[in-house]
Amino acid sequence: MTLRLHRRSFIGGIAGAMALAAAPVAALRRPAYGPAEGIIKLNANENPYGPSPKALKAIAEAATHSAYYPGPTVRRLQEMVAEYNGLKPENVVLTSGSIEALFAVGAAYSRHGRIVAPALTFGPHLTVVERMGGEVIRVPLTADLDTDLAGMERAVDNTVSMVYVCNPNNPTGVEIDAAALRAFCTRVSATATVMVDEAYNELTDDPEASSMVDLVRNGKNVIITRTFSKLHGIAGLRVGYALAPAHLAEVISRHAMTQPNLVGAAAAIATIDDEPFLEFSKQKIREGRELVADVFRRHEIPYLESRANFVYGDIGRNADDFRASMQARNVHIRGIYAPYSTWSRVSMGRMEDLEVFARVFSEVYNA
Ligand SMILES: Cc1ncc(COP(=O)(O)O)c(C=O)c1O
Repeated sequence: MTLRLHRRSFIGGIAGAMALAAAPVAALRRPAYGPAEGIIKLNANENPYGPSPKALKAIAEAATHSAYYPGPTVRRLQEMVAEYNGLKPENVVLTSGSIEALFAVGAAYSRHGRIVAPALTFGPHLTVVERMGGEVIRVPLTADLDTDLAGMERAVDNTVSMVYVCNPNNPTGVEIDAAALRAFCTRVSATATVMVDEAYNELTDDPEASSMVDLVRNGKNVIITRTFSKLHGIAGLRVGYALAPAHLAEVISRHAMTQPNLVGAAAAIATIDDEPFLEFSKQKIREGRELVADVFRRHEIPYLESRANFVYGDIGRNADDFRASMQARNVHIRGIYAPYSTWSRVSMGRMEDLEVFARVFSEVYNA
């Protein structure tokens, strides 16, 4: 076989090699997967206890069939997710990470009206919707950093097509009172579709009671999104889904570009009901939450009671500067989420990583 190299790609190749030669040594040491050795990564709400052994086995098996599109495997996962949630397959839209489901809903609804959302919440899908010309009304949190359901309800009129609520909320970790949220969804869904992002639902004390999935079962104008990135520990495999009454699920499907890949779908199938792993994972996340909360308490730092895999605390100084000082010591946490410039979010890691976090946090905080 003759290899014919186009002149431009040849020149590009030389330039690339020269750039590589000039690259800092640290960049060359960057690993192909996951955080670099020695880096304590507590900034993206991942679950380092995953993937489970069963998921790893499924990943290896599925990978050998990667020549094929994932249709049948995704359909099997769709059936399992439906059964797991007491719904039918037509109520489930599987996507590449739940962010794709969130965006698909945002894209669909922003064409027909404005979107109401909390001012401090998970927001990449809202930002993209705005870039595409959609309008998002952001309602500030209450004084104690809870989602202001009353304020959001007041913002809903017939120019609003969709309301986004995240429960538990990111980055605060605060779980919304289930009865209050159910009443809110029931009333508001008469005017606009309510999307509840339940990415962290499985980490709450009582996921069934905390979830609004019963409203979907009852055919309300409500959409739920969930993910395999958190409790199930396969963020890198990008598997998420939306649950909705069939006619809304169809709208979501029409606006979603991607579905999970074969390997991700296989891993999700292997993990969805792997109770021993899920219980272990949840226990570790709880222990980690307690460790971080304890660090905050020891430094007299006010923090919010979290029901997710991160803790949000008021460190009383510029959170971006603090983040940079921590990062200089190889511990990565989050900086400012405007306008809360002195609050910082710490995600869960393995317990041994969190022990390092505890030590480094004290050093930087007391420096
Ligand atoms: C509240 C919330 N929703 C959705 C996502 C997106 O998760 P994924 O696309 O990995 O399912 C995240 C990720 O951190 C999140 O915090």
